[in-house]
Amino acid sequence: MTTMESLIGLVNRIQRACTVLGDYGGGTGNNAFNSLWEALPTVAVVGGQSSGKSSVLESIVGRDFLPRGSGIVTRRPLVLQLHKTDDGTEEYAEFLHLPKRQFTDFALVRKEIEDETDRITGKSKQISPVPIHLSIFSPNVVNLTLVDLPGLTKVAVEGQPETIVEDIETMVRTYVDKPNCIILAISPANQDIATSDAIKLAKDVDPTGERTFGVLTKLDLMDKGTNALEVLEGRSYRLQHPWVGIVNRSQADINKNVDMMLARRKEREYFDTSPDYGHLASKMGSVYLAKLLSKHLESVIRTRIPSILSLINKSIEELERELDRMGRPVAVDAGAQLYTILEMCRAFDKIFKEHLD
Ligand code: GDP
Ligand code: NA
Ligand code: MG
Repeated sequence: MTTMESLIGLVNRIQRACTVLGDYGGGTGNNAFNSLWEALPTVAVVGGQSSGKSSVLESIVGRDFLPRGSGIVTRRPLVLQLHKTDDGTEEYAEFLHLPKRQFTDFALVRKEIEDETDRITGKSKQISPVPIHLSIFSPNVVNLTLVDLPGLTKVAVEGQPETIVEDIETMVRTYVDKPNCIILAISPANQDIATSDAIKLAKDVDPTGERTFGVLTKLDLMDKGTNALEVLEGRSYRLQHPWVGIVNRSQADINKNVDMMLARRKEREYFDTSPDYGHLASKMGSVYLAKLLSKHLESVIRTRIPSILSLINKSIEELERELDRMGRPVAVDAGAQLYTILEMCRAFDKIFKEHLD
C-alpha cells in the first residue's frame, strides 16, 4: 500500500474506533473524539427516493448487500466503512451492534440491515435517524467511509406521519451540512435534472460545488433518441468536479441475481460501446467513481493534516488522562478500545511526520 493509502486506512480505523467508543458512551465523554470524527471526511449519498443511491453504493463496494428496490427501502442511515486489507484474509463484514460476528455471506448482511432497521422502526414505512454502523474488510475496496441515507420525498405515503418529508430532509442535512462531508448527489437520468432533489439540496449546502460530486444514474433508462450529454459535460449544472454517469443493475437484473462483477462488466461495456458517451467512457462508471472519490478524499485529508494532527494530539492527551484515571493496564472493553485508539493516533502522528512534512 502507498503511504497515503495506509494513512487513509488509519483515518478510517480511527473513525471506526471512535464510533465504537462513542457507543460505550457516557463514562468516557470524550469530546475530542467527537471533534476528531467530525474532522475526518465522510461521503454521504443523497437523492430522491429510488434514484439509485443504494445501488451506487453497492457498485462502489463491488458487493451485493444493501436492501434496494422501489419505495422507501433505506429507512435508517447506514454508516459504511470500507477497510482495504492486504493481509490475505477473506472479505468479511461486521456490524457495530454485533461485534463478535463476522459475516462472509453478504446476503445475511442485507438481512441483518433489514432486521436491524425494523428493530427500531417496526415493520413500517417509518424512518429513524439512529444510524446502523457496518464495516467491510476487503482487499477489493478503497478506504472510504460512506453513508447511505433515506431518499428525499415530496409526499407522505400511507402509514407515514405527515412530517416525514421534513424529517428525512432534516436527517440528510445533519450529514451534508458538515463542511467535511463530501456529497454524492444522485440524480436519475430519466428525470429532468432541474427537478433533482439531490442537486437542489447540494446547491443549498454547498453553493460553490467544491464538495459535491454529481452522479447520474439510469442512463440506460433514458428515452430512445435522447442522451445526457448536457448534464455529463457540465452544461446543465456546473459543478467543480466532473459529473459521473452510472448504469446500475435494473430491478429485473436484481430479480435474476445478476452478480456485481457481471454488472460492472456490463456497465463498462455500455460506456465503451456507447455512440453517445464513447468519448467520456474512461471517466464514467462505478469503478471510476470509487477511484475519483478515494483520490479526492486523499487531497482533502492532505489539506486537513494540520487540524487532524492537532485534534489527534488532543485526543492522545485525553486518552492518556482517561487511561490513567482507569489505571493501566485496563482489561475492560472500553479501556481496550481507548488504548487501541491511542495506538492508532500515535501511528497516524508518526506516519504523517515521517512522510508528509
Ligand atoms: P434508492 O432508493 O435511491 O436507494 O434506489 P435503489 O438503489 O434502491 O434503486 C431503486 C430501483 O432503481 C431499483 O429497482 C434498481 O434496480 C433501479 N436502478 C437503480 N439504478 C439503476 C440504473 O442505473 N439502471 C436501471 N435500469 N435501474 C436502476
Ligand atoms: Na428505493
Ligand atoms: Mg436506498
